[in-house]
Amino acid sequence: MKITVIHGQEHHGSTYNITRLFLKKLAGENTEVVEFFMPRDTPPFCLGCCNCFVRGELFCPHAEVVQPVVRAIEEADLVILASPCYVFGMTGQLKTFLDHMGYRWMAHRPHPQMFRKIGLAVSTAAGAGAKKVTKDLRQHFFYWGIPHSYGYAKNVWAINWEGVPAKRKAWIEKEVARLAKKILKKLGKVKPGIKTKAVFKAMGMMQKTDWNPADREHWAKNGWLSGKKPW
Ligand SMILES: Cc1cc2nc3c(=O)[nH]c(=O)nc-3n(C[C@H](O)[C@H](O)[C@H](O)COP(=O)(O)O)c2cc1C
Repeated sequence: MKITVIHGQEHHGSTYNITRLFLKKLAGENTEVVEFFMPRDTPPFCLGCCNCFVRGELFCPHAEVVQPVVRAIEEADLVILASPCYVFGMTGQLKTFLDHMGYRWMAHRPHPQMFRKIGLAVSTAAGAGAKKVTKDLRQHFFYWGIPHSYGYAKNVWAINWEGVPAKRKAWIEKEVARLAKKILKKLGKVKPGIKTKAVFKAMGMMQKTDWNPADREHWAKNGWLSGKKPW
């Protein structure tokens, strides 16, 4: 099994420590864990050139930074997106990376392997907003084609991990263990639900128009315009 983690921050606070707890519960002997830390691994801001959509992802001026992360996502069985809540949203550096994944949305060129993966979104906030972050991150999973995702959102009532009392940490560990067990049970058995199938079908209909030749070619090459499905 391969797990790819995109940390929306570099520091080792509550979000990082909770993500580590997940990895401890999820990763076995044969698990390969690949981690990226934003902003260390974040490309510069998207320039809005739309080269990725129209000419191809390798024409993105930031392809050299973006593509290794994208490849690791595509190779993973489980993708983890983790971010502290900053003003009711994910960190800016994570959003900057995710902007560069726009071409992988179902409306464009979803990777065929996406439809068998699981996503896990992790977020912490001091008092409010963590749930909004995991909801946003799970929306990214969905539009990448990942049919099954989980969210772990925690208002930790602290501004760092040291400030979280031992009793709350123990409770968090229990919740993490429970969710990790669920995820492990589901790995390798994911099937797209009705919503993924409906969006994929609608996008397929759009690809038959003159929407974007680069996207259309991707859909045709995968056989998706002649009835083949990625699942
Ligand atoms: C720029 C910034 C914005 C924040 N915005 C929120 C917020 O909207 N709601 C909230 O409850 N906490 C907010 N916080 C607090 C953090 O979300 C909270 O302490 C979180 O657990 C930090 O995670 P970390 O330890 O992984 O950095 C903010 C912190 C920073 C630095």
